[in-house]
Amino acid sequence: ASIGIIVVAAGRGERAGASVEGPKQYRRIGGRPVIAHTLEKFLSWERSGPIIAVIHPDDQELFENVRLSLRKGDTVHAVTGGATRQQSVLAGLRALSELQASHVMIHDAVRPFLDDALLNRVATLLDSGESGVLPVMPVTDTLKRGSADKHVVETVSRAGLFAAQTPQAFALPLILDAHERAAADGRSDFTDDASIAEWAGIPVLLAEGSPDNVKLTVKRDIAMADARLSSALP
Ligand code: C5P
Repeated sequence: ASIGIIVVAAGRGERAGASVEGPKQYRRIGGRPVIAHTLEKFLSWERSGPIIAVIHPDDQELFENVRLSLRKGDTVHAVTGGATRQQSVLAGLRALSELQASHVMIHDAVRPFLDDALLNRVATLLDSGESGVLPVMPVTDTLKRGSADKHVVETVSRAGLFAAQTPQAFALPLILDAHERAAADGRSDFTDDASIAEWAGIPVLLAEGSPDNVKLTVKRDIAMADARLSSALP
């Protein structure tokens, strides 16, 4: 499989206080913007094909500075994203379909702690012919359904439940077609690509995710990530 990479980074990140401090993918952890860490991982992974970063039109200057700081930054393509994550991914898929790749890994810029072992696990499953691969972690908390007035309604069994991570990997023509059909159907609210695959009937295999591969969503996540890198916490 030749694997193109799409890193989506066009969100505004309001939940992380973007209005004051700028979008979270450009905030610094360990002295570098979050997205620089993420792109470096793909630039150094031996199996990466073309790499596309999907960015917000307002972030062009921020992104240019990141690109200049990367070792092989001139090889990263940049395209403009859309109003939802789904639309941003579609922009990336359309750009990738003009380049050389049979498969694609779609990754959130705000997950900078992925590693080669995770990438290799996912790639090996693509090599063996899977049409879709989703890295997941088993849910460990006890799950409750709550009522509108914040009382416990019931305890939900966590057996067979998983939290979805990225990179999510697919045969490129299949996921591009699914995305195009979802958009044509007026859908724009899928929060990950495995749910579009599910909607389109593409089989998706669960793969072992990584506990380190967390998504930096709220302000505190950025502070924790920075502390972790700065003090080399485990
Ligand atoms: O908002 P959420 O946390 O789901 O964002 C996940 C990833 O999708 C982030 O890296 C974000 O930058 C990206 N995104 C995007 N375009 C949007 C919304 C989110 O590329 N319109």
